[in-house]
Amino acid sequence: MQLPATPIEVPPSWASLHVSQWRGLMMLIGGVDMGKSTLARYICQELLQAGVRTAYLDGDPGQSTIGPPATMSLGLLELAQDGTLHCEAVWRIFIGSVSPRGHMLQMLVGASKLVRAARRAGAEAVIYDTTGFVDRAGGGLNLKWAKINLLRPALVVALQRQDELESLLTPLRHSRRVPVITLEPSPYVQPRDIDARRSHRAWLFGRYFSQAQELTLDAGRLAVFPPMPFTYNQLLALEDRAGFAQGLGILRQVQPAGTLTILSPVASLEDVTLVHLGEICVDPRTFEDRRIPY
Ligand SMILES: Nc1ncnc2c1ncn2[C@@H]1O[C@H](COP(=O)(O)OP(=O)(O)OP(=O)(O)O)[C@@H](O)[C@H]1O
Ligand SMILES: [Mg+2]
Repeated sequence: MQLPATPIEVPPSWASLHVSQWRGLMMLIGGVDMGKSTLARYICQELLQAGVRTAYLDGDPGQSTIGPPATMSLGLLELAQDGTLHCEAVWRIFIGSVSPRGHMLQMLVGASKLVRAARRAGAEAVIYDTTGFVDRAGGGLNLKWAKINLLRPALVVALQRQDELESLLTPLRHSRRVPVITLEPSPYVQPRDIDARRSHRAWLFGRYFSQAQELTLDAGRLAVFPPMPFTYNQLLALEDRAGFAQGLGILRQVQPAGTLTILSPVASLEDVTLVHLGEICVDPRTFEDRRIPY
């Protein structure tokens, strides 16, 4: 798995941050289309060039970077000779949806598990690229607050256009809970509208399932959560005992005897103990997703 290799324009405000000296957990926050993921990639590059063992936490189940969508993923990074960033190891948590709305506890638990995985793997720096969900009425602000309080990052890097994050940042600064750096959004951002976001997700799912094969699961041997209902083309995760997704699948058939046929790129079911059903369907021809109406 490789991070995008598109060129990064570095504004003077980034160059003066001396990010190669940063250690511990760095959490990037900001609304949509602020340049968070590109800034995260820049920080990872600088750290790796300085020889720092670095992990990238892709915390966006919608516009994922190392995805696939509907997951949060942690990649332990290495720098290739041509300057591109690769994951030497990946851990994934299944969110089951491409939006944080209605899945905030899963996201909080996922972030905590992935940060712990990064520490166990010996990462000296973890760059946490969060979603653009900062809407106060929708609960986005509370989710960010909860994550900061749980994870106690070494640094919060906030990208804001005016003062839209101040109801979070001002209390953080005044309480001296966490150091905060505020930056203006990248002037090089190319915003994506809803349609562009949908088709980007379909592309990410398509890339993930490009090597998928039909697998047969004996649901009698495996736990299923939640137990019902099964839906045709439902996205699911094959999870291990620790709750990490070994991979995703698309449900194709349920036989009366409890055998499930899925499409999945997962090579081995050896460590899989649970089938975690998601709340979206993914069309295996177009890879477009749609919410299951419950
Ligand atoms: N510094 C930069 N140099 C070059 N291109 C950039 C830069 N910042 C952003 N872009 C362009 O803008 C696009 C959107 O930026 P990015 O994905 O970093 O924003 P984001 O805040 O993470 O968006 P989202 O809200 O979808 O998570 C990128 O794909 C990239 O093409
Ligand atoms: Mg992003």
